[in-house]
Amino acid sequence: MSMPEWIWLNGETIPFADARVSVEDRGFQFADGVYEVIRVYGGKPFTLIEHLTRLENSARGIELNLPIAPTSLADEITRFVSRTQTGDGMVYLQLTRGPAPRNHIFPEPSLSTLLFYVRELPPSPLPGMGDGMKLMSLPDERWKRCWIKSIALLPNVLAKNAAVRAGFDEAVFIDDGRVTECAASNVFAVIAGTLLTPPVGSKVLPGITRALLLESARRLEIQVEERPWSEAEAIGADELFITSTTREISWVSQWNHHNIGQGKCGPVTQLLHEALQARVAADTR
Ligand code: PDD
Repeated sequence: MSMPEWIWLNGETIPFADARVSVEDRGFQFADGVYEVIRVYGGKPFTLIEHLTRLENSARGIELNLPIAPTSLADEITRFVSRTQTGDGMVYLQLTRGPAPRNHIFPEPSLSTLLFYVRELPPSPLPGMGDGMKLMSLPDERWKRCWIKSIALLPNVLAKNAAVRAGFDEAVFIDDGRVTECAASNVFAVIAGTLLTPPVGSKVLPGITRALLLESARRLEIQVEERPWSEAEAIGADELFITSTTREISWVSQWNHHNIGQGKCGPVTQLLHEALQARVAADTR
């Protein structure tokens, strides 16, 4: 993938290749920062307000303030996306506690580094299409504040690499016998017509796609339960799928070496993916 042409860095839009961040940026030295990934469809950011609200929550979670009001930031992102003439893609946004001589104590006065840029993405597969995802379960060794979208992603990165190295597509975390989420996505099961997903909190990010999905499911009068579930329930599920901003919804064909469902995308998964794409179409017209 080619390098983006432009980047928005601390209030200025400059050529991506000219962007410089200090070696002493606390994001670089301490992973002291938070981030967002926002989908762009047809040149328009999707669920931008929801993402910026989560960004504010994440920032508050690490005792950091946004250096710009969320409404102004939304305008800046929208303007940047249209200026770069992105069709389908994603915005990567990162906020750190900024540059300061290395010290665990927060610097006073507090600074920040805020940047975002866009990357093109191929269109998502149509609902029900594409290969099923193979999940590999691994112990959830992350901290207990996974509701914060922190840039400290080493446990996620190591788990994802272990899964891919073993021939799987994504890692799914198990905490004390309970399914939490995947390395970069939320996870859902359909069991006897009920849609199940673990509640958000210490081990589960409040995914924006997850929230949209639950909204659609309730509108479609699908029974929804937000509760913890075990690996045994996952393996015996009728349908399993994962959600994220970049992948939308991907059906799961395998959990470790167990096949899931009928070897194709299940009907509830497909219905929910169609509902999500209808929402995208309505919001980015
Ligand atoms: N990841 N859980 C984790 C740990 C994630 O990293 C993500 C998203 C999600 C899904 O959240 P959302 O629906 O808001 O994208 C759940 C992004 C896409 C990433 O790191 O690239």
